[in-house]
Amino acid sequence: MPQEQRRHLQSNLVERGRAAARTGIRALFDADPDRFRAFTTALEDLTLDYSKTALSVDDRAALLAFARACRLEEKRDAMFAGERINVTERRSVLHVALRGRISDRYAADGIPVGEDVERVLAAMSDFATRIRNGTLTSSAGHMFTDVVNIGIGGSDLGPAMATLALAPYHDGPRVHFVSNVDGAHIADTLKGLNPSTTLFVVASKTFTTVETMTNAATARRFIVDALGEEAVRDHFCAVSTALDKVREFGIDENRTFGFWDWVGGRYSIWSAIGLPVMIAIGAPHFRSLLAGARSMDLHFRHAPLEENLPVILGLVGWWHRVALGYPSRAVIPYDQRLSRLPAYLQQLDMESNGKNIGLDGNPTATVTGPIVWGEPGTNGQHAFFQLLHQGTDPVPVEFLVAAQSHEPELQEHHDLLIANCLAQSEALVKGRTCEEAREQLLAAGKTPEEAAAIAPHRQFSGDRPSITLCYRKLDPNTLGKLIALYEHRVFVEAQLFGINAFDQWGVELGKELAVGLLPVVRGEAPVERSGVLTRGLARTIARLQ
Ligand code: F6P
Repeated sequence: MPQEQRRHLQSNLVERGRAAARTGIRALFDADPDRFRAFTTALEDLTLDYSKTALSVDDRAALLAFARACRLEEKRDAMFAGERINVTERRSVLHVALRGRISDRYAADGIPVGEDVERVLAAMSDFATRIRNGTLTSSAGHMFTDVVNIGIGGSDLGPAMATLALAPYHDGPRVHFVSNVDGAHIADTLKGLNPSTTLFVVASKTFTTVETMTNAATARRFIVDALGEEAVRDHFCAVSTALDKVREFGIDENRTFGFWDWVGGRYSIWSAIGLPVMIAIGAPHFRSLLAGARSMDLHFRHAPLEENLPVILGLVGWWHRVALGYPSRAVIPYDQRLSRLPAYLQQLDMESNGKNIGLDGNPTATVTGPIVWGEPGTNGQHAFFQLLHQGTDPVPVEFLVAAQSHEPELQEHHDLLIANCLAQSEALVKGRTCEEAREQLLAAGKTPEEAAAIAPHRQFSGDRPSITLCYRKLDPNTLGKLIALYEHRVFVEAQLFGINAFDQWGVELGKELAVGLLPVVRGEAPVERSGVLTRGLARTIARLQ
């Protein structure tokens, strides 16, 4: 789209955003009390309510027109067709193929990938099943009781989040995750483990990431010291695209599960990176996770834009970020088992859309990806919700809630959970005027003077936006749909920002500097070797060592 047309549509939407902020959300409900109906869309049981945003019917139409002008549908189709849309790395972006069927005929750059995907899935299933039923044992012939995944970023956050989310389906060995290069992480994890019954999964797309390689070397020593060098064969497996490097580490080929360069790290949970999840919940449940994601893919590909969950979620995200200028969004799952979802989405969203250079190589015309943060409800209510209700910066909130829990015997808990979720999204819009606060105080027996003094502190502006995603129950299929929804939402927003969501050059400089600083930290090179920005701290740390 010519830059000029893009700018024109954008500035029109920014104008609309200003007007919408003045109108507010309550006024929209006053004008149409049945607004929920017009501002809800669903795929099967997964329902997205975006009625509590300041979007009018006309604003939504303008956003949809902007999406079409950004050639969203064409770009989506290019991704599904396996074109090299990751232009800076010249790669296809085909994580959707990992949850497709062979009949979906996905191809990366013209080369079919379905059979390769199926082959790796079958190998993973066989391996996971044998670990789970004890036919694949430790070096001393014991059944594995514990599995430790060693990986970081996309090789950790997805499987860690999903393993916790699907705890009710967990009937395999205990699964642990070690990611941080801080030795405390692996030390605390290994402390309770028996080397004779522990299996390590070394997960790294590149098999060069320093954190993972350092932790893997420590894990190797843990096994060798207790069981001898030969035990490494039985106690390690690997997941990577760099099969030669895995071999160098000494991990057997038939215990190595590959994936491909058209799978980005933060989009890799569906690949062999999901192995620890499969070991925890079993292959059939893992297949159900993939099937849920595939339903979302089909929906994203074929549903009209106005009913399309990832499109609507992306448009609402762009509206809040660009048209209304809100710098962050909070993800608040009223679902304790989704407590790692905000961290997972931080990588998915911020590593994808935290960019300031557009696809044309020039600075982007607008702000781009928001800061994503969050914690589960109801815990957040007793921590940071004060700021959400009365702070100076509105923060759009994304609530997630299940209609059914996995603990029918604890229904009272679930009723309270749902009531709190609904109450918070209502309170954010409703607010309370100073006059209402004063009347409440008088009714509670305060003197008129006291009521007048305290009332201003108890008023809430209201009109604060939120969306709510609700679903029947957090099962593997639903989790698959949810993750794929967020993946595609990131894609949609990237098209509206005009950026490449699939590279991450911004993480490189820090890694390079760390390599240069290591000799200084180890005391092998003089502190002067570090630059003026670091010298002072390096000296202070050395003095304290
Ligand atoms: O440093 C960022 C990053 O490259 C992420 O994109 C990736 O998920 C993570 O590091 C881990 O990379 P790998 O799987 O290659 O170890």
